[in-house]
Amino acid sequence: MSAVLQVEHLSASIGGQQVVEDVSFSVPATGVTAVLGRNGVGKTSTIKAILGLVERSGTVLLDGEPIDREPTHRIVQRGVGYVPEDREVFTALTVEENLRLAVRDREPRRELVEALFPDLVRRSAQRAGTLSGGQQQMLSMARALLNRNRLLLVDEPTKGLAPKIVTELATALQEAARTVPVLLVEQNLQVIEQLAQDVVVIDGGRVVHTGPAAELLGDEAAVRRYLGVHAEQPPTARRSDDDAPGAQPPTARAAEEARP
Ligand SMILES: Nc1ncnc2c1ncn2[C@@H]1O[C@H](COP(=O)(O)OP(=O)(O)OP(=O)(O)O)[C@@H](O)[C@H]1O
Ligand SMILES: [Mg+2]
Repeated sequence: MSAVLQVEHLSASIGGQQVVEDVSFSVPATGVTAVLGRNGVGKTSTIKAILGLVERSGTVLLDGEPIDREPTHRIVQRGVGYVPEDREVFTALTVEENLRLAVRDREPRRELVEALFPDLVRRSAQRAGTLSGGQQQMLSMARALLNRNRLLLVDEPTKGLAPKIVTELATALQEAARTVPVLLVEQNLQVIEQLAQDVVVIDGGRVVHTGPAAELLGDEAAVRRYLGVHAEQPPTARRSDDDAPGAQPPTARAAEEARP
């Protein structure tokens, strides 16, 4: 199958320190490709390197054309959408203002966004800073989905959210992925199982595994080795920033936090 994105020998540094060493993988032109790995291994830095937000070297091809020397605004104009790790909505602005500011296309996909996130329509006059973590994440995703992108880069959308919201977000992302291929950084194995066809595992700034998601998730030893978490591990209870106490599905992050 043709690739929308090819990353070859990508390295990146922040403040003179190399945080991505030699990363190569490709993203098929349809569906969801998940990037996994323990905390601090370089997942976010890889996404930022693709976008030119950090100093990088190596080859990045979008639809076969090099973008690794292009400035970030050009990469965005070429159709690479970004939903950052910490949502980054304008908290002092309303939902509607946040959406309006994100529009780049002549005919933004309002209907798609409104169908995916009806709650945002109801809250259009509400200030984004007063939304829950899950609602802010939906707004951040909606901002990216308004434009017709070639590829969407989504960094840990379910982090710290209550299980019910995680399910809602995953379903919205699954719908969205019918319209645009997604490269998804995700630690929640249930979300990966639901959404991803392929996985890329990063460890120590390098790719240590690529392949079908089902194959990795079916290999308990590999999951434990790469993520330090058991695929069948019982959920770890912890509070989310949605203020809904409850069980979290197994994540590499939860396993890290549970370590003595
Ligand atoms: N702004 C920064 N300044 C200095 N070091 C940084 C900065 N951002 C990231 N790093 C370092 O780069 C490495 C990779 O970080 P990165 O955020 O890419 O990891 P990650 O896999 O996304 O982690 P997480 O699962 O916690 O989101 C880490 O060692 C981190 O400490
Ligand atoms: Mg990260």
